[in-house]
Amino acid sequence: MPKIKFTPQNKEIDVEAGANLLKAADQAGLYIEGDCGGRGTCGKCRVKITDGGKIEPTTAEKKHISSNDLESGWVLACQRSVDQDIVIEVPIQKDAHLRKTTLAGGVEDLTAEPMVEKAAVKLSRPSVKDQTADLERLLDHLEKPELTIELRELSHLPALLRNNSFAVTAAMAGSRIISIEPGDTSDQIYGVAFDIGTTTIMGSLLDLKTASVQAVAATTNPQNAYGADVISRITHASESKENLKQLQDKVIEAANNIIKDLLKQTRVARDRVYEVTAVGNTTMSHLFMGVDPTYLAPAPFVPAYSRVLEVEASELGLKVNPAAMITFLPNIAGYVGSDTVGVILAADMDQRKDNCAAIDIGTNGELVLAANGRLMACSTAAGPAFEGAQIKHGMRAAAGAIESVDYTDGEIKLSTIDDVPACGICGSGLIDAAAALLDAGLVEPSGRFINPVENPEKVPNHFKDRLRSGIGGYEFVLVAAKDSDTGDDIVLSQGDLRELQLAKGAIYAGLMILLKEAGLNEEDLDQILLAGAFGNYVRKESALTIGLLPQLPAEKIIAIGNAAGDGSRMALASKTIRERARALPHRVEHLELSTRTDFQDIFIDAMAFKDSRG
Ligand code: FES
Repeated sequence: MPKIKFTPQNKEIDVEAGANLLKAADQAGLYIEGDCGGRGTCGKCRVKITDGGKIEPTTAEKKHISSNDLESGWVLACQRSVDQDIVIEVPIQKDAHLRKTTLAGGVEDLTAEPMVEKAAVKLSRPSVKDQTADLERLLDHLEKPELTIELRELSHLPALLRNNSFAVTAAMAGSRIISIEPGDTSDQIYGVAFDIGTTTIMGSLLDLKTASVQAVAATTNPQNAYGADVISRITHASESKENLKQLQDKVIEAANNIIKDLLKQTRVARDRVYEVTAVGNTTMSHLFMGVDPTYLAPAPFVPAYSRVLEVEASELGLKVNPAAMITFLPNIAGYVGSDTVGVILAADMDQRKDNCAAIDIGTNGELVLAANGRLMACSTAAGPAFEGAQIKHGMRAAAGAIESVDYTDGEIKLSTIDDVPACGICGSGLIDAAAALLDAGLVEPSGRFINPVENPEKVPNHFKDRLRSGIGGYEFVLVAAKDSDTGDDIVLSQGDLRELQLAKGAIYAGLMILLKEAGLNEEDLDQILLAGAFGNYVRKESALTIGLLPQLPAEKIIAIGNAAGDGSRMALASKTIRERARALPHRVEHLELSTRTDFQDIFIDAMAFKDSRG
């Protein structure tokens, strides 16, 4: 059996001869970035073979790796099978979730109205004159004879009472006693709220008595190894029951790691966590619950369920109190999930009276419009450009990503996350870069770079070397090789601009269709809320310059942070808010854009870089 040693993590595993290197890394618990699910098209799963023989590069490797790097042992993990002992260097992952403010949401005051109540009791001791059974003794004292009890708790009740001088605390959820604990633990009621993102999973530990956030933690969604987008994951899960279980195990394991981290930070015992809520897109919801997502992919995009799903923690293997109820908030449609329900709750869109749109920008852009008392939602396939995928030097928002680009005083100036040498460009940087190049007059409203040969007078001298011919058109050098972290030029290509146009056109067109359906124009909007981490970082001015958003004064465009996560916390903290969530699938009108004959025309028109600053 060949042995693989991963450095610098110093992990060793034995694998079957012929094992795929990317899968082996996953088996060793190492996350290697990859956006294409191992198809060899994204070029992101680069690792270096430092010992173990030289093998001819594959076609995909020749396409994505420079000849110098190939020479020094760089390969694509997904393209390699392992037939002999090898030593691999895995670059330290620069995780998107390290952008710390993505953990923070915009809703600060949560209402404490927990589902779980606790009562500390001191029971009278039994005697020959009072032979009341233990459970009935407890229920009589609580004056709640109708309560049921988990068999797991009943099984140890006699010893628990006698070992604790009949002083115990009962934790109750609705009509169930879910836990009986020694002594008085009535001040310890905790819950965890999850936001299960396709890329990042976040969790918050709440003290449910006060609805205060005690700790937050995040991790990369380990399902990434099976593709960055939901379609790759649906495809993998639909191949076999084992694959579906594999994806469920991955997300549950990641959720358990987050819980462990939260409990470590706060020193809360896991048995004191009695409630868990979660939001995510419809695919994430299905995979978390282990439900077959196959029919989400093809039209008519039907989910297995849309209602709230409630399951005991022990059934899912979540390491909190085994009787804790896990509540996954409801889906609205195949591509409008409970993350959108979270946004609606966090922004009070189901209660507000003005005309307000919320946009969660991602691979799948989700849009909600509250207008004249109606709530409408749609999803629009923006593609992965905003997440830095399918962009020549694109990357997630992590250290070294170009996050902002300015055109000032005739110069292009840029900054990177953590102020380290640039290694790529993330979504917010991409929008900025396009806006800066539009401002500099180097890109036409059609989205094409100006032709420097035909229009030399339009290219200032100091940009002449930077606007050059590349594969598939012109490209602009944002960072020269000598200043970059990768040792290569970092460019914005004609293809990148095209991807951005497709993405922003899809978002804009989706919003226009919602407005049209409501009988409104763009100027009727009182507010546009930008949800999600991306919304926090995108510069409104740049978004308006490229025409991603409609013509509204910048002060009407508000970033509301991780609203999906906020919605999960709000639903965890308050049973009334949970009931509001329960009603939303019936209340929200879902518009399926693929059936709209007007979508294509609006979309094509929306692709142009029209400055919408008014
Ligand atoms: S090229 Fe290997 S995962 Fe995309």
